[in-house]
Amino acid sequence: MSVKLNEKYLSGFVSEIEVKKISHLTEAAYSLVKSGEGEGSDFLGWVDLPVNYDKEEFARIKDAAAKIQKNCDVFVVIGIGGSYLGARAAIEYVKSPLYNNLAKDTPEIYFAGNTISSSALADVLRLCEGKDVCVNVISKSGTTTEPAVTFRIFRELLEKKYGEEGARERIFVTTDRARGKLKEFSTEKGYETFVVPDDIGGRYSVLTAVGLLPIAVAGIDIDAMMKGAADAREKYSVNCWKSNECLRYAALRNIMYNKGKSMEILVSYEPSVQMFCEWWKQLYGESEGKDNKALYPSSVIFSTDLHSLGQYIQEGQRTMFETVIDFKKSVDTVVISDDPNNIDGLNFLSGKELHDVNRMAMTGTLFAHNDGGVANVVIEVEDRSEYSFGYLVYFFELACAVSGYMLGVNPFDQPGVEAYKKNMYALLGKPGYEEHKAELEARMN
Ligand code: PA5
Repeated sequence: MSVKLNEKYLSGFVSEIEVKKISHLTEAAYSLVKSGEGEGSDFLGWVDLPVNYDKEEFARIKDAAAKIQKNCDVFVVIGIGGSYLGARAAIEYVKSPLYNNLAKDTPEIYFAGNTISSSALADVLRLCEGKDVCVNVISKSGTTTEPAVTFRIFRELLEKKYGEEGARERIFVTTDRARGKLKEFSTEKGYETFVVPDDIGGRYSVLTAVGLLPIAVAGIDIDAMMKGAADAREKYSVNCWKSNECLRYAALRNIMYNKGKSMEILVSYEPSVQMFCEWWKQLYGESEGKDNKALYPSSVIFSTDLHSLGQYIQEGQRTMFETVIDFKKSVDTVVISDDPNNIDGLNFLSGKELHDVNRMAMTGTLFAHNDGGVANVVIEVEDRSEYSFGYLVYFFELACAVSGYMLGVNPFDQPGVEAYKKNMYALLGKPGYEEHKAELEARMN
């Protein structure tokens, strides 16, 4: 088993009777996911994706990744939200946040189009100077401003550098099967395209071509990743509130929320997991933050943040609980050496593995936060492998859908994201937004 829920640090905060009391709700929510009778059921493609994925496209992803690895020094991945976070999370989780500094046989990978900052884009363009570049633009709708503008700039750069024909060999597009500006444009230009399935929303799409192409370019074993997700799907296939740990996690979140907690903090002691936390924050924030409800998803990396937010978690407002990802094994081994003179007084650590020290910091923190009135759910994970990444992705996606239905929201839409877009388009003078522009200008004056 790759992932295990440890509820020891919930003792005194949540009882088994409380979990049992809402078990009808938990199991009913799971039934909605499985039967497709809940709201947003057009977006349940991720449920069986780990076994039902398009094998022909999967093979094409591997071929394209090999071609990209061969043809470029720099691979630029353009996308935002669900079309960005999963791939970056996987690369940092399995490899390192310093992947680009350490990569030897695979291209450097930079993410662009996830902001409208000129400086951020200019930095990536500078990094491309004098290098061979390939681009993967990812947008399900094909109309999102941030990636669309960024792609226009990179397309021009590639066409200037390699000519239209050469650029065609270096541009890879991941978008809707049939609809949208990006699809139309790619067909016209003859770019190789990959599909974001109709029934999978952005934040549930990391195990489709959206995530898999960049992940494969980084030299990560995508078969092992899909296997992890497939095993999780199998493991959490039984609708039982008691034994299904995915359901238990959803139930525990619901209990915490109803006890007045307003924030869940995802905790890891591995800096490599920071972007996974960002992926998780989008998954839960965009899925549940509706109708003035839901836990605010937040994250910290310890022990780094024990020296910043640690004070607040220990003694600030008692509004949060923590979900801790605990990796049993480390990818690397660092042993603390012995100093015969013990000048720094650290010989009590001589011969110890740094990962064991890290885990002691974790255990110490779990007790301290419990003593400070903060409940902790611990998710024990074997190691930081591609297998466990796929497994955890499925665990959190399923728990999110169940949790969303328990909360009474549609976990698959994101109507709130449109509000800023409408204002931005109006202010920028996009045709069709004239009336709204006048309204905003009246508010500004
Ligand atoms: O989860 C979602 O649906 C969103 O975060 C989208 O992924 C994000 O808005 C990007 O959309 P698109 O892929 O259409 O450019």
